[in-house]
Amino acid sequence: MTGRIAVLSPRVADQIAAGEVVERPASVVKELVENALDAGAHAIRVEIEDGGKSLIRVSDDGEGMSRADAELAVSRHATSKIREAADLIGVATFGFRGEALPAIASVSRFELVTSPDGQTATRLHLVGGKRESVEQTVRQRGTTVTVRSLFFNLPARRKFQRTPATETRAVVEAVTPLALTRPDVAFTLTSDERTLMDVRPAARPIDRLHALWGRTLADTLVPIAHREGPLEVRGFAQRPADAKPAGRKGYVFVRGRAIRDLFLLRAAEAGYRSTVAPGDRPSLILALDLPGDAVDVNVHPAKLEVRFRDRFFVAKVVEDAVRHALGPLVAAAPLVGAGAGVGVGGGGGSWADVPAASAAGSPTELFPTAATPPAPRSPTPLLQVFDSYIVFQSESGVAIVDQHSAHERVLFEGVMRQLAGNGAPAQRLLLPLTLEFTAPELEAIDVHRELLARVGFELEPFSGRSVVVHTAPNPHPRFDAARCLQELVADLAGGRFGGLANRLERFAATFACRAAIKAGQHLELAEMGELMTQLLSATLPAHDVHGRPTIVQLARGELERRFGRA
Ligand SMILES: Nc1ncnc2c1ncn2[C@@H]1O[C@H](COP(=O)(O)OP(=O)(O)OP(=O)(O)O)[C@@H](O)[C@H]1O
Ligand SMILES: [Mg+2]
Repeated sequence: MTGRIAVLSPRVADQIAAGEVVERPASVVKELVENALDAGAHAIRVEIEDGGKSLIRVSDDGEGMSRADAELAVSRHATSKIREAADLIGVATFGFRGEALPAIASVSRFELVTSPDGQTATRLHLVGGKRESVEQTVRQRGTTVTVRSLFFNLPARRKFQRTPATETRAVVEAVTPLALTRPDVAFTLTSDERTLMDVRPAARPIDRLHALWGRTLADTLVPIAHREGPLEVRGFAQRPADAKPAGRKGYVFVRGRAIRDLFLLRAAEAGYRSTVAPGDRPSLILALDLPGDAVDVNVHPAKLEVRFRDRFFVAKVVEDAVRHALGPLVAAAPLVGAGAGVGVGGGGGSWADVPAASAAGSPTELFPTAATPPAPRSPTPLLQVFDSYIVFQSESGVAIVDQHSAHERVLFEGVMRQLAGNGAPAQRLLLPLTLEFTAPELEAIDVHRELLARVGFELEPFSGRSVVVHTAPNPHPRFDAARCLQELVADLAGGRFGGLANRLERFAATFACRAAIKAGQHLELAEMGELMTQLLSATLPAHDVHGRPTIVQLARGELERRFGRA
């Protein structure tokens, strides 16, 4: 009797590997484009027909292959990229497993045309992984892989393919991150002869973003540049006020590799805490760099996940990186749409050159930031308009501040500190106030009594529905303690600010909103100056707690451009 165990034939093994690596046309495109990038291509062309179901073709002008290498490339575990397992540590190429081409070839009609020198070229034809022909031909230096009738020999898999439109979208989603990682490479993508992407080599990552998605998005982004220990985080974060509930872009790259990592995207979103409106999702592009031995890239068959040695550290640094990016005034909304395009300028073609938001000489940076020693100088308030906005001038431009939002931000940060520390200085009222509340409001007072005391309101139930107020905070000279407390308690009872994650923040935001200077309130010059000084020493001066800007700015350069002086 023969044994029951047999070694699988290489073709069956390839088809099984294909099950993991090749899920749909988009995964074929991803593998082929990665190979082209690994081959040092400067221009990559992707063509698909019928969502990639009938045809996928990827052409590059990379280093190509000799006939012997081409023949090897389609056999399993043949790779030019690593030689031993130790090379996996810090591997810098996209590929290293040597299984993509044989896996793809095993489930399609596959043609490879390649030339290492622009003179001799090889054409290799396989059907279902079986070699049909090898011949000499001509081609410029580079490689073209054509994949027809994907899954023709796997009917079950073929049935799982979605509509051409859905598969096409997936192909675009597969090429986009690769085009983002390599702004120096030209990409074109056509689907049934329609051009879906056509981007030239770009000098800077922001230019590539601009080419892919247009100004409307690019102008809402501020640069991220942050390092902690071995980890460097670069990229772009959308201004909180521009975040929308749907359609955001979210990309994470680790050592130049696009990965799917919701955990890190969530960490980045945590960096937006207290600046975005509930439900709004900012666009985020995060490029992480860390030493090769701190991350394992060989944990997912399609390399869509990586394993960090310490992912909580990575998450914390990502959160900090976003906070830092939103802090400086370069993160304030521009008055005209010329913000990020200017603000993130400079630098070379790589993500490592995305300049820090606080980099000196950034044209949209109006004021010295806390990060720029010496201590921030107060800008000169020029005037208050509509009793609601304060106009300032600085060396590099003009800023308009919403007095209510600005004060709200200042109070919010102050209250968060007080709640963590010893509480606010309160004033004992010479004549205690007696205020009436509804039953749900009394309940809210009861629940929040400790927090109310910490911000300065010491309350005591009186009789029936009345409460006596013994002390009150004094956030500004025109503060109306009774009105603030009534509005605050009504908000607490009504559950406003439900979007903020934690109870302290919810309370702080509610208090800040009700205690802040209102719109329509006339201010003296000194009061405006004081408010501006406080705002500039806040951690996130440019964003209020409802997802709106506190400052809009007009860079001097923009004025000069408008008036034809630049
Ligand atoms: N477009 C190309 N230009 C030049 N060489 C290529 C190209 N595509 C593939 N090759 C060569 O063929 C080999 C096999 O490619 P394949 O994608 O199967 O494996 P890999 O890229 O090494 O690893 P992985 O399976 O992780 O992608 C590569 O190592 C490379 O040497
Ligand atoms: Mg590969």
